[in-house]
Amino acid sequence: MVEVIQRGGEFLARKGVDSPRLQIELLLAHVLQVPRLKLYLNFERTITDAEMETLRGLLRRRGKREPLQHLLGSTSFCGLEILVNPQVLIPRPETELLGERARRFLDAFGGTPTPTVLDFGTGSGCLAILLAVQCPQARIHALDISEAALNVARQNAARHQVAERIEFHVSDGFAGLPAGLRFDLLVGNPPYVPSAEIETLQPEVRRHDPRLALDGGSDGLCFYRRLAVEAAPFVAPGGRAMLEFGAGQAEPIGKIFSNADWIVESVEEDYSHRPRILIARWRDK
Ligand SMILES: C[S@@+](CC[C@H](N)C(=O)[O-])C[C@H]1O[C@@H](n2cnc3c(N)ncnc32)[C@H](O)[C@@H]1O
Repeated sequence: MVEVIQRGGEFLARKGVDSPRLQIELLLAHVLQVPRLKLYLNFERTITDAEMETLRGLLRRRGKREPLQHLLGSTSFCGLEILVNPQVLIPRPETELLGERARRFLDAFGGTPTPTVLDFGTGSGCLAILLAVQCPQARIHALDISEAALNVARQNAARHQVAERIEFHVSDGFAGLPAGLRFDLLVGNPPYVPSAEIETLQPEVRRHDPRLALDGGSDGLCFYRRLAVEAAPFVAPGGRAMLEFGAGQAEPIGKIFSNADWIVESVEEDYSHRPRILIARWRDK
């Protein structure tokens, strides 16, 4: 087993894969169906020919830079197992911060006892599902333009027993939402990569995350412009927007929201102290 890990790690390193040792350990643990940390308690276990064949196939695919999460079929988001496939963005650790921030907001919410939430661009459903699981008082809506992504989100909701608590809408922006809905909280991680930068991203991202989930238009800000304006008829008095964004976007997004009818309350940082989340309050008129 030690030799398999050693050789597999070296193979992945040659292919330019980050953290090759961790990756081979995770793939081997997946094939042997044991938690990764248990690998080292089973050093003597022999690997059968069939297991070796499966591992080789996965290693070849990982070497071609298919994301680990696609090979495993799922990822962890705030401790929830979320199914992923090429139709949805693989949820990122930064987005866990947004989920945590939104949960704190809902827990402290002093308005109606049943706050209404919209997850804009739900993808795998990670944010909507997290909030449905952690905030049983909330009514959750989730939208995406991609029917294929919504199918994955629905499966994830069912897996976590919150399918009944989330209303999914196929919608381009807000256009497909029923009139009359009002949100106390709008969360979202919209596509924010400038179109021309997509080709510069890691192969795992540029070849395997859906382009629809990445492409934020020529300057990456197209969805923030749309959200700041198109959300207007759907925001409840005093409603909040909590939106993730990318490197260098804090200032222009702050301006976009201030120039529409929002008061920017704060910009929150990720663990590396990079600005990441815009929090804005709807200016009641
Ligand atoms: C960056 S992904 C976020 C997925 C998920 N919320 C997450 O954080 O992992 C953005 C999502 O927005 C969706 N999207 C792209 N254009 C859209 C549009 N015009 N209207 C609604 N959703 C859209 C994409 O399909 C994708 O699922």
